[in-house]
Amino acid sequence: MLIQMSAIGLGLDTTFDDTSVAILRGKREILSNLTLSQYKEHEEFGGVVPERASRKHLEVIHHIIAGALKEADLDFSGIDYIAVSNYPGLLGSLLVGLTVAKSLAYTLQCPLIGVNHVEAHPYANVLEHGKMQFPILHLVVAGGHTLLIHARGHFDYKIIGRSVDDAAGECVDKVAKMFGHSMPGGPVVDRAAMEFPGDEYDFPRPLLHKKAHNFSFSGLKTAMLRFKEKSQSTSSSSFDSPDRLQEDGPVLASFFQSVIDVLIHKTFNAAEAYGLNNISVSGGLAASRKLRLAFEAESARKGVKLFYPPPNLCTDNAAMVTCLAAHRYEAELFDDLTLDAFANLN
Ligand code: KG4
Ligand code: ZN
Repeated sequence: MLIQMSAIGLGLDTTFDDTSVAILRGKREILSNLTLSQYKEHEEFGGVVPERASRKHLEVIHHIIAGALKEADLDFSGIDYIAVSNYPGLLGSLLVGLTVAKSLAYTLQCPLIGVNHVEAHPYANVLEHGKMQFPILHLVVAGGHTLLIHARGHFDYKIIGRSVDDAAGECVDKVAKMFGHSMPGGPVVDRAAMEFPGDEYDFPRPLLHKKAHNFSFSGLKTAMLRFKEKSQSTSSSSFDSPDRLQEDGPVLASFFQSVIDVLIHKTFNAAEAYGLNNISVSGGLAASRKLRLAFEAESARKGVKLFYPPPNLCTDNAAMVTCLAAHRYEAELFDDLTLDAFANLN
């Protein structure tokens, strides 16, 4: 098979509660990148209901594929390979994307490329900034994972730090929910953090001074629950109302400052320990304006080169998945139709 540098990939991401389809030419030219978020589908249950998520993916995925082709002004004959995230995530959700991807690769007789969704997050930076600058330290702050990855090359990386309990994004979502805000919690907490200084309360910063590169956020979550229980709030304002954010704003801003301090401290410590001058940040929580400002300031202070994607490429999207797949395509790292889906990272 002739490997072309400007090959066109169609990528699918159905790992959790977003259905996303992208079409990418070469490694960086996004022809389309459509994502349907399911947050509203799960709101009344207070969290993502796995079976509901799978059914919704099944209901919409073909329409989104058709939309992505239309936006790219292509039909299936223009597609050179099919990419899909096959782990980690909700198994039922992953199986929808994987089955559609296999059917397409089989019908179109083109290569199938399975991608680790978490490994794909940092590739949002390739879409935005160009070639990955190795060696590099990736901080991935997604809803389900908080990871520090030391990457020496494409497909050559080691996870050097991870959360031993809740991911930072999960902690932020749960604390926002505790304070009566609807899903996803990140944007609400970020809004509070942009409005208030974040030094009104002193909440815990777990494992801040431990030498190891792991994170822990469940203690902070419990501290917030205790604080909430003890607080004298008698507010009757409705959830998500401007009043509520005014009232809880300083608390949420201080809470988020703890999360940010831990992420910054751990990331720059790890970069120093491994002698790395390139840092990338990615994942849904990276869409936070406050987090971005904090990373920009610390990188400038430390003289480290920072790669940070725009918000729409921080949250789950199939363009980053297809971008990683484009690198695998060039290296002829293909999968076959026995490709399986896995809920866990390893
Ligand atoms: O990467 P992602 O979209 O999904 C996973 O791979 O898990 O990350 C979802 C996380 C959630 O915790 C959500 O609250 C957070 O990203 N998030 C944000 C923003 N948008 C999504 N956090 C802060 N500011 C945002 N604008
Ligand atoms: Zn993700």
